[in-house]
Amino acid sequence: MDWLVFLTVALGFDIVATKPTTSYDYYRLPTSLRPEKYHLRVLTHLDNPNELTFSGSVKILIDALRNTKNITLHSLNLRIDETQITLKQISGIKKDNCISSTAVNPVHNYYILNTCQELVAGNVYELSMPFAADLNRQMEGYYRSSYKDPVTNLTRWLSVTQFEPASARSAFPCFDEPELKSKFIITLGYHKKYTALSNMPVKETKPHESLKDYIWTEFEESLPISTYLVAYSVNDFSHKTSTQPGGPLLRTWARSNAIDQCDYAAEFGPKVLQHFEEFFGVKFPLPKVDQIAVPDFDEGAMENWGLITYREISLLYSENHSSLEAKEKLAEVVAHEMAHQWFGNMVTMKWWTDLWLKEGFATYLASLGVAKIHPEWNILDREMINNIFLTFGLDALESSHPISRPIKLISDIAESFDAISYKKGGAVLRMMHLFLGEEAFRFGVKQYIQLNSYRNAEQDNLWQSLSKAAHQFGALAKDYDIKTIMDSWTLQTGYPVVHITRNYSARIAKVSQERFFLNPKVSPVHRKKCWWVPLSYTSQDKRDFNSTAPMAWMECTNKGASLPKTISNLPQSDQWVIFNIQLSSFYKANYDAQNWKLLIKTLTEGDFESIHVINRAQLVDDVLHFARTGMQSYEVALELVSYLKREREYLPWNAAILSLQHLGRLLRGTPHVKLFKRLMRKLLTPLYQHLGGIDGNSQSTQNQDQILLKAIIIHWACQYDASDCVAKSLAHFRRWKSETYPDEKNPIPINIRASVYCAAIKNGTKEDWQFLWTRFLKSNVASEQGIILIALGCSQDAKLLQRYLELIFDPAEVIRKQDSGLSFASVVSGEVGMPLGMKYFMDNVERIFQLYNPSVGNMGTILIACSVITDRRQYNEFKAFVKKSRRFFKGLEQTIGQTMEAILMNVQWMEQSSKQLSRFLVKYT
Ligand code: BES
Ligand code: ZN
Repeated sequence: MDWLVFLTVALGFDIVATKPTTSYDYYRLPTSLRPEKYHLRVLTHLDNPNELTFSGSVKILIDALRNTKNITLHSLNLRIDETQITLKQISGIKKDNCISSTAVNPVHNYYILNTCQELVAGNVYELSMPFAADLNRQMEGYYRSSYKDPVTNLTRWLSVTQFEPASARSAFPCFDEPELKSKFIITLGYHKKYTALSNMPVKETKPHESLKDYIWTEFEESLPISTYLVAYSVNDFSHKTSTQPGGPLLRTWARSNAIDQCDYAAEFGPKVLQHFEEFFGVKFPLPKVDQIAVPDFDEGAMENWGLITYREISLLYSENHSSLEAKEKLAEVVAHEMAHQWFGNMVTMKWWTDLWLKEGFATYLASLGVAKIHPEWNILDREMINNIFLTFGLDALESSHPISRPIKLISDIAESFDAISYKKGGAVLRMMHLFLGEEAFRFGVKQYIQLNSYRNAEQDNLWQSLSKAAHQFGALAKDYDIKTIMDSWTLQTGYPVVHITRNYSARIAKVSQERFFLNPKVSPVHRKKCWWVPLSYTSQDKRDFNSTAPMAWMECTNKGASLPKTISNLPQSDQWVIFNIQLSSFYKANYDAQNWKLLIKTLTEGDFESIHVINRAQLVDDVLHFARTGMQSYEVALELVSYLKREREYLPWNAAILSLQHLGRLLRGTPHVKLFKRLMRKLLTPLYQHLGGIDGNSQSTQNQDQILLKAIIIHWACQYDASDCVAKSLAHFRRWKSETYPDEKNPIPINIRASVYCAAIKNGTKEDWQFLWTRFLKSNVASEQGIILIALGCSQDAKLLQRYLELIFDPAEVIRKQDSGLSFASVVSGEVGMPLGMKYFMDNVERIFQLYNPSVGNMGTILIACSVITDRRQYNEFKAFVKKSRRFFKGLEQTIGQTMEAILMNVQWMEQSSKQLSRFLVKYT
């Protein structure tokens, strides 16, 4: 034993720094050993705020698959007293072995125990290791969280885990890879005034052998589970039970003062769980599920098997304070994590390369699940179509990446949890669902889950099950297979724009594809890519928008070249065609000039509602992007968009706003902005009035789409000074201000609060800002706090914004660290806030880095928020800053690539296209 190490441990130093490093440098663990079972004991101390710590021991039963002289596992920032490590052979003749020396690999967090005697294949060994560490503040591993007791005003502490993707290793030494599934027997020690939760139900509780008032709670043995899904928490929360007949015990936990906000999640959770049991044809295998709202939580939620952890905003809902949008989001998150109980927990990806498989599926299945339980919400189209538009933007950058991608460093894993894995992943699964049809898709997915339960899988396993099902149900031609089709979507970056060029006299169309880029300067060679594209289309005479089944396919050669395609039997020359019914496939459709003209005619003068609402949204999104890249002129785009004066539906409007809001930002501070604002007012005012303005509670606002539409229309009407939006918002806000108990009584209708607050703060006074800040401090509802934080960034007062920036990054965390990235994004999205926020970030980057390190999520949000830069001088300044500050952006290389490219696209557009736009703005305003 290395005595120096022992000494540093005894003195409480981190041993890692002094250890010899090893030559083993491969990013995956050696395959000679496999853990079979972990006995994990953790004692948590929450009494002294200056000493929030844990200590424990882990006993791992390890199968030797090959002879080896070392045990290599993961450990990070743990204090390990090496004198206490023991190793025994426990199968066959029980023999003691020992550890001769240890070493570390800091890059991959390996802790290597060299054994005194060789471990022999076929034998089982028992390794015991003690460990200790502080409960950290970084929301990763085993960490601390807190909240204020409303009665005593004292801080209450709790502990909770967040292990995905690679932080179990900082809570206990383990084989921290998703493929190394193992059973866990977890025992937690803690003061008896707390409750302990873990993946499994409690087996028994005993008094602690020496610590007064401490107890040990042992939980039942788990099923085979990956380390990233292990979870435990010690807290003083209350709970609500909402078990369904025949279902597992279901409990929803929150701090006592928020327990009345648990009703909706408690009601929805078991329903959606049961829905997935039916969907997969596999019962939920555990006796219980707990869902818990954690005050400090870096992600939205985490699917730990049997103990799902959430941000408060993702689990708590208050009838009087949370909007419908918040409720929908909550349902999506709960459904997403419940879907993971099968897709991810029961069947797990072999390696992080296939992360998209669980995240893309959970995204898509969540929308299907919520749609099933709340058919009246019409959420499926709204979610999926918005996801498609968002991904279209991101995936048109040269710096994008394929859905499935090699992972070699832990820092690459964190960056994989992005819109490409989630939203594009979900979108291509929807595409597959629509081209296969209900029966084949369902059957294939069920097969995949049933075949791979309690094991690990790759995307090829899914393709196999689906191909088989597709052929069995006749959903796909025998000479097509899912792997060939889907690999073109998951292994290639980007997506196609399909050009449809009609020959009107021959009534045919030539169809070709190329990769779509935002940057017009990308050469044709780089655009030459091929996807297997299912084609569906209809025409003005048929107007059949119901069938999304492919009528033809664009095919690729073995070498990846696109085969030419001709579509015949098209209508006469005075009738339009539309490709990609209901955006069932992931591509943009561009037409010849005549076809665009015909479409515009119907939209602006004809029966525009005869075009399916999703396709109206598609036309808006496509044409604005084509104009942005020069593939179409702004004349065509603005002419088409002018039809919005007639549009009353959410999807086309949201598509328009996503693009137009970007244009508006680009034009800020230029001479063209006046005309642009005029255009926006012209488009928005008819709908604003149709919806009854701010006060109106017209009949048409009863359904979900209309309620959400009203919220966005009011927001943008106020931003562009349309009608009486600002005046009415200020009046509403002042009425609220004059209430005697504004925290109890808020006269502003819940679903438009976000818009009204923002407009009032933007056009209001310092006192208004202060009033809203006080409401933030007093609020007990996370979703209400969320909209307030965003609204506070809407201010145009430089002094207030500066003060806000200080508050956002204040280490005292009046604004929790988890919320700081979004608050910052709100500041820089404003005209006055942009230069202030950028400067603050650049001046304070080291401090901000220290605040978050080692977690990178919020730093990523901040970088992305900086994509608002539009001029070359600022671009160059920011570029130099990023270069100089590389060390603060480790693990964010991809985000930096995307941000810099997005800024460059803005700059190029300003230099090259803004004039063209303004020429046509004159015509349309
Ligand atoms: N598995 C993730 C949680 C996660 C995200 C862990 C990133 C580690 C890094 C979870 O299932 C998830 O996807 N959560 C989402 C919410 C979801 C509804 C999109 C999240 O945290 O944003
Ligand atoms: Zn997920």
